Amino acid sequence: MPKMKIFLDTADIKEIEEFVITGLIDGVTTNPSLIAKSGRDIKEVTKEICALVPNGPVSAEVTAMDYKTMMKEADILRKIADNIAIKVPLTFDGLRACKTLSDDNTMVNVTLCFTANQALLAAKAGATFISPFLGRLDDLGQDGTDLISDISDIYLNYPEFETEILAASIRSPKHVSDVALLGADVVTLPGKVLRAMYTHPLTDKGLDAFEKDWKSTGQSIL
Ligand code: G3P
Repeated sequence: MPKMKIFLDTADIKEIEEFVITGLIDGVTTNPSLIAKSGRDIKEVTKEICALVPNGPVSAEVTAMDYKTMMKEADILRKIADNIAIKVPLTFDGLRACKTLSDDNTMVNVTLCFTANQALLAAKAGATFISPFLGRLDDLGQDGTDLISDISDIYLNYPEFETEILAASIRSPKHVSDVALLGADVVTLPGKVLRAMYTHPLTDKGLDAFEKDWKSTGQSIL
């Protein structure tokens, strides 16, 4: 059985360091907005991220709209480290770049996916990952999990597709369990969603009681 992967959706080095020590993080995704938020130079910060998760893919996104410039940017980004996945948008030029890069054995993450047909084309273009954006569909009053379900059904019908479903634009722990139930291969999470996944008031309450009762025994395990 494949294991579900957790990527961090951030370009914040401190946040990556915070979670990487748990061994729970299988990769990182970035995008131009996250690079802007970090205030860092894209090449420098991407190199640092790649070193923090050497065994996992790190998605670095091209910013050009046309194929030729996308390929020039991808050539620079993929030289940063061996674990770079080039992120391209789900456009005609992005799909074309995806095909060229995947034929050249470069991992590709096709991003800004909002329909099952877009995901179908990305798989045909050899994408390593397809990134359906759940939260942004929910923002429009649609159900983002329906999209994950449709993509999953389509990919299962065609076993030659090796593209992994990377659920993105995840806004809550509920999103994570919903897509896990649907068998998403990967979720990419902002740190605050990952923190919310392990936090529960009954866990805290139970721990307080254990601590109090333990103190009353006067014992020490050490
Ligand atoms: O990696 C891109 C995606 O996860 C963005 O999420 O919250 O900006 O819609 P959001």
